[in-house]
Amino acid sequence: MVTSLYLQAVLQMRQAKGQQRYSDAKFSGGVRQLSGKHWITPEIRNKAKALVAQMTLEEKVGQMSQFDWGFHAINPDAGGEINNLMRLLIDRGWVGSLFNLSGAEEANELQRKVIENSRLRIPMITGRDVIHGYRSVFPIPLAMSSSWNPGLIEQTAAAASREAASDGIHWVFAPMIDITRDPRWGRIAESMGEDPYLGGVMADAWVRGAQLDRWSDDRRSVAGCPKHYAGYGFAEAGRDYNTVDVSDRVLREVILPPFRRAVEAGALGIMASFNELNGIPACANKYLLTTILREEWGFEGIVVSDYNALAELLVHGIAKDPKEAAELAIKAGTDMDMHSGFYFRYLPELVAEGRVDERLVDQAVERILAVKFKLGLFDNPYVDLSLKSRVILSEEHVGLARQAARESIVLLKNENGILPLSKNIRKLALIGPMMKNRRDPLGCWAPDGKEDDVVSLYDGILAKLSADQVLYAEGCGILDRSREKFDEALKAVEQADAAVIAVGESIELSGEGNSRAELDLPGEQRALVEAAVRTGKPVIVVLMSGRPLAVGWLDEQAAAILHAWHLGIQSGRAIADVLFGDNGPSGRLTVTFPRSVGQIPIYYYRKNTGRPPGGNYTSRYVDMPTKPLYPFGYGLSYTTFAYRNLKLDRTGMRLSDALTATVEVTNTGSVAGEEVVQLYVRDVAASVTQPLKRLKGFAKIRLEPGETKAVSFRITADDLAIIGASGEWAAEPGAFRLMIGPNSEEGLEADFILEE
Ligand code: NOJ
Repeated sequence: MVTSLYLQAVLQMRQAKGQQRYSDAKFSGGVRQLSGKHWITPEIRNKAKALVAQMTLEEKVGQMSQFDWGFHAINPDAGGEINNLMRLLIDRGWVGSLFNLSGAEEANELQRKVIENSRLRIPMITGRDVIHGYRSVFPIPLAMSSSWNPGLIEQTAAAASREAASDGIHWVFAPMIDITRDPRWGRIAESMGEDPYLGGVMADAWVRGAQLDRWSDDRRSVAGCPKHYAGYGFAEAGRDYNTVDVSDRVLREVILPPFRRAVEAGALGIMASFNELNGIPACANKYLLTTILREEWGFEGIVVSDYNALAELLVHGIAKDPKEAAELAIKAGTDMDMHSGFYFRYLPELVAEGRVDERLVDQAVERILAVKFKLGLFDNPYVDLSLKSRVILSEEHVGLARQAARESIVLLKNENGILPLSKNIRKLALIGPMMKNRRDPLGCWAPDGKEDDVVSLYDGILAKLSADQVLYAEGCGILDRSREKFDEALKAVEQADAAVIAVGESIELSGEGNSRAELDLPGEQRALVEAAVRTGKPVIVVLMSGRPLAVGWLDEQAAAILHAWHLGIQSGRAIADVLFGDNGPSGRLTVTFPRSVGQIPIYYYRKNTGRPPGGNYTSRYVDMPTKPLYPFGYGLSYTTFAYRNLKLDRTGMRLSDALTATVEVTNTGSVAGEEVVQLYVRDVAASVTQPLKRLKGFAKIRLEPGETKAVSFRITADDLAIIGASGEWAAEPGAFRLMIGPNSEEGLEADFILEE
């Protein structure tokens, strides 16, 4: 009686706080479908089990320990205790994993040491953050997602892994698939935007590309490590590492789908995030790491904590000492401890005292060894040193970097068709701190990228025009507070027929730890653009940043705006290709651009509320429109497209049926172009309130002038599934509306009924 009253009270409390827990167990795209694709075969699992049976407890907890070798190499005296521990584990051949090694030579040297010192000759697995390219740096992930081209994502992930593998890396800490709705968050640059469906498609492509299962040149694969699991992109107020408190519904409908897709694609690793999720930090969160990840989805790979995150359990205030931190993490399901050393130090005592069952240790080690077997590390622990010169910065990879950069660019405004520019232009002024910049286009997470490999926008333009057609002046630095170089720049603009002004953010303004409270151009850049506009010459702005910027003023003033993010080594060539029309812009936003910081969080996947924005006493602002500056899915082309004749092959669909929606898209302009045709669905009346739109399909097509193509989408009950009042994923019979169009705010609509 007491218990049931207590349980009832807990349930009521949870409900009151929106803390009900749901389940993915019946999700039809989930674990039930996984079996055919298991990467860790019974044979591999048995080999791992047999090895674990021969290991001492110390050998086992060594396998569960990962260290940042680069940290030690940069500063051998720093972090004395952790360095000593790392050396001890290397000397005994116990270490499970090292990351941030300096390259293939060092990887082979350390690997040899570890294997020779290891009683059972167990190799280590080496890791590295290979987020958007290795030495061939590709656009930041937020830019890449704007390509809406999963094939391209797969190719770039494969190229990055191929280069990394040739330099001795076995495990790439990618893809970063945190959904976020907050452009203040610096790590939005590494993410694939705000949408769970698109994020899932991209996660799938990335994992399949990154893990190189089919790349046989050096007989090895690379493991991926989707991160940060989970909720990291929902940090309150966009401040990195901040508290995350979301309902289970938002967790499962918005945050988790890309991770589920990554697991289905066969991801061999998952990184638990730094943040707490509803009171429990991720690496101590059993619900996330065991209930959902392993029990519901059937994940078989390694769960690694984020950097020193076990030590942060004390700072979060959830572990009273390091020993308890180790206990919480292993009991939750963290297999490998990144750089705190707590597992090695405390797990043996915890096992001896009976606080941790040794079977938990065995399971974790089995998973770690299984991945090492899967990657072929026991047979092939060393990398062929001749490989990297053939792979790194290969012609193919550099070409891919150019294509990826081109497809990532989003044309936000193009008044009177001022773009593309003619190559016969008499004089073009080239202005702004990003014009000759070769550092910031590398983006926020490119530790292996080199400035020297980057083609600046200036050089890209000079490959299209002759030197006497351009006038250059920087105007100001990115963060400058002085306007002393304005005059020179304005003179250049006055003498020219048009100006291209390249402005934006330096790499320190996005990425880890780099959240911003203001989302305008930093320094004096806004004043520079405004002064150039006042000359009366047409001003074309190339924006380079790691996030959406709130630049309504720019939209009002500039003749054209190209959003060029941080595009990697081929930045300048790709932007010039687009500026001069050798390739049209085809990128579409995967994140909403706000007008003002005050609108955040702002995203297309919103609900209607009982009082949608309108007049007084509606869900609006009195001092600002509720609409964003640019919506999700938005982007212009050099041509125009018309959408006509949306037809459904049926207006009533049974749960077991599929419905086909077809629309005709015509290129109504005078040049060829690419369009991203987007399908959104809405459950009109459901047992739980639903977003007005959910993306459920897209197709990137190319059309010649005057050409029409019919684009079809097949919709099944899976696409209509929601987590309804039952707490399980299911499509609920009733009225549905779908919309097909060029972005999340425009399109043709059609209705249908889902029958039992
Ligand atoms: C911390 C970051 O959050 C994570 O993304 C990265 O993989 C690790 N550091 C290792 O560098």
